[in-house]
Amino acid sequence: MRLGRREFLQLGGAFAWMGSSGCIQPRPEARLLPSLAPLPQPFQVPLPVPAVAKPASADATTDHYEFDVKQAAARILPGLETTIWGYEGIFPGPTIEARRDRRVSLLLRNRLPVPIVHHLHGGRTAPESDGYPTDLTLPESGFADLHMHDPLARIAHGQRTHIFENRQRAATLWYHDHRMDFTGAQVWRGLAGLYVIRDEEELGLPLPRGEREIPLVLCDRSFEADGSLRYPAVDPLLRGAPGVIADYMGGVLGDVILVNGAAWPRLEVANVKYRFRILNASNARRYELAFEHTPFLQIGSDGGLLSAPVTHRTLRIVPAERFDVVVDFSAFRPGTSLTLRNLAGHGAEAQVMRFDVVRTERDDSAIPSMLSANTALDPRGAVLTREFDFSYQRFGHGWTINGKPFDPTRMDARPKLDTTEIWRMKTDFSHPLHLHLVHFRVLSHSGRPGPYDAGWKDTLDLGPGQAAEVLMRFAGYRGRYVFHCHNLEHEDMGMMGNFEVE
Ligand code: C2O
Ligand code: CU
Repeated sequence: MRLGRREFLQLGGAFAWMGSSGCIQPRPEARLLPSLAPLPQPFQVPLPVPAVAKPASADATTDHYEFDVKQAAARILPGLETTIWGYEGIFPGPTIEARRDRRVSLLLRNRLPVPIVHHLHGGRTAPESDGYPTDLTLPESGFADLHMHDPLARIAHGQRTHIFENRQRAATLWYHDHRMDFTGAQVWRGLAGLYVIRDEEELGLPLPRGEREIPLVLCDRSFEADGSLRYPAVDPLLRGAPGVIADYMGGVLGDVILVNGAAWPRLEVANVKYRFRILNASNARRYELAFEHTPFLQIGSDGGLLSAPVTHRTLRIVPAERFDVVVDFSAFRPGTSLTLRNLAGHGAEAQVMRFDVVRTERDDSAIPSMLSANTALDPRGAVLTREFDFSYQRFGHGWTINGKPFDPTRMDARPKLDTTEIWRMKTDFSHPLHLHLVHFRVLSHSGRPGPYDAGWKDTLDLGPGQAAEVLMRFAGYRGRYVFHCHNLEHEDMGMMGNFEVE
């Protein structure tokens, strides 16, 4: 099949409208892709923690990292081997630990058979290092199948170095693939990892740390009978035709819940406070996390520490969002087990992992009632309000923003450097909306800001028929960036736009 991308997306829309069952119904909801391999028993494997990457070298200003992006074998299901694509061959990739204002340079060598694009989600990054979706790094072995039309694309052959200045607050960021039309498939295969920025302010707080500060990267996957990852790509080789087959254009849900790459793991804890940096790295799955007998104390959001902690009985987290939380196990005696449940799921998808309280320890940590001097942005300083409508076009282009599918040659907004704007966004179905370069404040979210909107955000859970207003300052760099739905199937199938900071 050698269709142009635009024709293909239009055709995709038409297919979806016809529906595979023959009835005239779009399939805008995310859909479960059942595994063909037997599912493992929950809570059998210990929670792994992704290794922290070691710099190849360091100098006065910069830590230099080098990652091979390659195929490798992983053990996810008992008795079966799963081929993944991983940064350094692991999934999730190695965690990069960065310090505020200290530069990270990251050299990536593409040992995969397809192009990659590397993006640091939540990073304030210069455009040439941000991973614009057409800034492909082609395989070292070459690649003959390029069908893009973007005169501004910065194509690299075999490898590329990204520079991250880290001129931003301490926060939990993550990196992942961002190749135009294939992000969903490539992240599903394993191209994602954590990137943590620390700063003096945060290090000065008596929060749980060391063994008691643990990342939880949640994602769902499905497996073929032989243990390989199952995904409904139109082109299983990920060379030409974009996106997923029509039945899954609303998003792909896996039936195995992974935490840090392990299926329904368990973690032994002491009866003390722990800090969990929770990332939803799923393509399309939304979670509502809950413990039966204890709440979450949220201390941070996508953009770092909140001004003050917020208590949640349940935690709703959409793809790409991060919640930095403290869970206090001190009320539980050794021998107690607590299941982290997912109230948004059914059956096996309704559980995530288990915490087994196994020992008594001293706890010197404390959660200050004031966490961070968070300077607010004043909405009265906004120079402009823009409107964006995220919708499904039944008879045309499928997933769109203001009625149009992604086109790298079209500019949708030109904010001025160092100005503040309000973006008013509305949706038909639910979409996790994300902007590159900036962090924003939620001004309204179907009325007042919601319970999960505190602090600086870069991803917003916009429910069906909702509207929200966000406020942000376009600072740091001039240049071209994207904003998009972070349901990766929606993104690959058109729901992405461009802005250029001038
Ligand atoms: Cu998490 Cu444009 O990406
Ligand atoms: Cu969406």
